[in-house]
Amino acid sequence: MELPEELPQLYKRHIFACATQRPPMHPRGSCGASGAQPLWEKLGKKIEEGGLSADVGFTLAGCMGFCSAGPLMVIYPEGVWYRPQKEEDIDTIFESHLKNDQLAEDLVVVLSR
Ligand code: FES
Repeated sequence: MELPEELPQLYKRHIFACATQRPPMHPRGSCGASGAQPLWEKLGKKIEEGGLSADVGFTLAGCMGFCSAGPLMVIYPEGVWYRPQKEEDIDTIFESHLKNDQLAEDLVVVLSR
């Protein structure tokens, strides 16, 4: 059976945010060791309090394979990866991408395999 061209979507957007925590001196590093947790807490709160939780799925994820680039989050369906460093960056991503459908260009990270 072929894949259908379009299925009804549960959310307008779905965010996956890496919550993997390795010890501070681990050779691979981790998003958690790079300060991810307070950022994701803030983002979850903003989605909830900003009235977007019906449209935006927010899922804490395991390692997404680019540990030294963290903290990493990806927003689908656009497939845009962001690397927020501080809480103000979460405000920017929320306002720009989630509320106004605009890329938060300065925070985009382009990864390659
Ligand atoms: S620990 Fe976050 S991508 Fe690997």
